[in-house]
Amino acid sequence: MQVISAIDELRRTVGAWHKADLSVGFVPTMGNLHRGHLALLKEAAHHCERLVASIFVNPLQFDEECDLQSYPRTLEADMVQLESIGVDVLFTPTEASLYPHGREALTRVDVAGLGDILEGAARPGHFVGVTTVVTKLFNCVQPDLAVFGEKDFQQLLLVRRLVADLNMPIKLLGLATVREADGLAMSSRNQRLSTAERKIAPLLYRELQAIKDALLHEKHDYAALEQAAVERLLRLGFVPEYVAIRDADTLLAINNNTENRVILAAARLGDTRLIDNLRV
Ligand code: PAF
Repeated sequence: MQVISAIDELRRTVGAWHKADLSVGFVPTMGNLHRGHLALLKEAAHHCERLVASIFVNPLQFDEECDLQSYPRTLEADMVQLESIGVDVLFTPTEASLYPHGREALTRVDVAGLGDILEGAARPGHFVGVTTVVTKLFNCVQPDLAVFGEKDFQQLLLVRRLVADLNMPIKLLGLATVREADGLAMSSRNQRLSTAERKIAPLLYRELQAIKDALLHEKHDYAALEQAAVERLLRLGFVPEYVAIRDADTLLAINNNTENRVILAAARLGDTRLIDNLRV
């Protein structure tokens, strides 16, 4: 595996692959890799002849400075995992190369509307940070295909939208959330849970499953279902931020004719913020 930090060197390497007619798959990450990330990379490898992963802890998408500082940086261990699944290039850009004029003075990519609700409302500025860095990474890597996890459901929809709106010739694949045996969605943040919190954490997914069951039994009082879940989560020790039943294509409110539905939730457990979702 080649580790490349310089954008021009990356472009030369990927350019040579394109010239040789080799397809290039890409998975952007912030490192601290777990089985969820590896599943994304394996999926990309399945569709492409060359595979690029990136590790960049993107300061622009953190709404709290302490969250950015404490984000786990585990490059050595990550590299071992990436090698083991046959990644060709690990791209590790520097902050100065991605943000040459600093964090404030830069062109931003804003997917208005879709980026302002749910996670966007709970974490102002977060999605502009994500869509800006993903655009930059796509411009650097120039992949044919990129894979994102459904765990960050709204992020996946936003990236789909930006690729379409900015006419990027990139095929996007979304991959189902990888879960622990007890249902907890894999996330780098899970490491921050105390032993007691770790036992409670899977109950967030259990709530989503309970709502899904109710919807499949033709319960249509969406607001009541959401509110009941919030109250149960509170009793379990979570501090819920939202539980929302939405149209899975637009994330707007649903009606009885909406075909693709998704239930999304965000809740804090102690110092850890958890998100999860479930398609209906
Ligand atoms: O999902 C993530 O890890 C990040 O939001 C991403 C897509 C790598 C952008 O920094």
